[in-house]
Amino acid sequence: MNDSRSLRIFQDLRLLSCAVAEEIIKLAGLAINDMGFFSIGLSGGRTPITLLGLLATTYSNLVPWSKIHFFWGDERCVPPDHPESNFGTALQTLISKVPIPSQNIHRIFGELEPSKAADAYEKDLRDFFFSNSERSYLLDLILLGIGRDGHTASLFPGDSVLQEQERWVAVVSAPSGVTPQWRITLTLPTINAASRAFFLVSGKEKQPLVHYILERRPNASSFPAALVAAKNGVTWFVDQAAWDSAFDPENPS
Ligand code: 6PG
Repeated sequence: MNDSRSLRIFQDLRLLSCAVAEEIIKLAGLAINDMGFFSIGLSGGRTPITLLGLLATTYSNLVPWSKIHFFWGDERCVPPDHPESNFGTALQTLISKVPIPSQNIHRIFGELEPSKAADAYEKDLRDFFFSNSERSYLLDLILLGIGRDGHTASLFPGDSVLQEQERWVAVVSAPSGVTPQWRITLTLPTINAASRAFFLVSGKEKQPLVHYILERRPNASSFPAALVAAKNGVTWFVDQAAWDSAFDPENPS
């Protein structure tokens, strides 16, 4: 396991998202040349929306859509047309706008009973990656966000799912007050089995966590995001607001 971490700081979320899009295109080209396809795990939440929009427009012509397989790091247990659906967000902002073959979309069926959704997704993942078993890793790239409590995907602090070593996919109940309550998530070993992981972090509310984790402060490992590694390293894409406590996004220097 490669515990290497790199940090890239950007003036704002748009520039951060442009850099991520360019890295995705570069990694996709390398993977497709090597294996004939590129597998990416999308994160949920709001931060990746700018990236998805850029991939659907500015960068669309540079993306080999037919060779990319889309997975998700986690999903809320809601139907795809629900405003909280991670797949639904990706469908609206990207998938409905570009020529991705339907067989390349490996969504989590949030509308199913949670254990059935988890079993179905785990089967899809195992079938897909076992048919490409000559690889030493699973996803080529997983995109992740970080919650204000240090969760990533739907791996929340203190959840026993963090000790799961067998299952690739698990059902979790979010902490009280976090809705939707029920979620499907990749387990930590499955996230860490990716070749690379990118964290996309924006906004000053994330700033204390980013420093706590990247400066490897005591007890940082209590935050699930700090436990993410990847075979070929983790890159943190962070905007100024999430890095510099003195930075005022209203008056960028
Ligand atoms: C989810 C995400 C979650 C997200 C973080 C950050 O389904 O909610 O997978 O891990 O990445 O909560 O969310 P924001 O980007 O909205 O801050």
